[in-house]
Amino acid sequence: MKVIVATGNAGKMREFRRILEPLGFQVTSMKEEGIDVPIVEDGTTFAENARIKAMTVHQHTGEAVIADDSGICVDALGGRPGVYSARYGGEDLPHPEKIKLLLKELIQVPDEKRTARFVAHICYIGADGTRIDAEECCEGVIGHAPRGEGGFGYDPIFMVGDKSFAELSGAEKDAVSHRGKALRAFAQKLSQGCGNQ
Ligand code: IMP
Repeated sequence: MKVIVATGNAGKMREFRRILEPLGFQVTSMKEEGIDVPIVEDGTTFAENARIKAMTVHQHTGEAVIADDSGICVDALGGRPGVYSARYGGEDLPHPEKIKLLLKELIQVPDEKRTARFVAHICYIGADGTRIDAEECCEGVIGHAPRGEGGFGYDPIFMVGDKSFAELSGAEKDAVSHRGKALRAFAQKLSQGCGNQ
């Protein structure tokens, strides 16, 4: 089944392909489909923003679309940057700089209070308008310095056990990640016909 992923984020796109293709989906990107539609992400929750992205591209194409809105929620910062993770420190600030800024904000925070979670909300809208939502999280701890070369975004400072997400293989990350869990939950709902129009 063909599904268009409503994202311009190359890191997310890689993960969508890695997770959904083995489940039988034909995964394609907005870029590959030549879709250039502005998406106004003005929601205040992961669910709202995921729905805005999926609905915008679905209305534009009439095809089955899937979107993810995700972010990192740091307990010592009252859940920030959360929904605003991509815009933390400014939309154009590269992730290595966002990481430096986050580590600076947490400089006085002791290990036991550096708990955090990645959250992913998946919204799928089928060609017939059927909608399926799934939200999952992955608990971890913010490290003291970036580690590893893999992944994207905040992966080098998100520690699960003794490794950062950026030190895991793709398969290892997908097995425990917010996106891996949410995409598998979505696929299960789809196979059970659990859509809500
Ligand atoms: P948005 O969903 O497009 O608003 O952006 C989500 C942002 O959250 C990304 O740009 C990253 O900064 C961060 N993020 C979400 N998921 C991950 C992940 O799996 N690894 C690292 N950073 C992530």
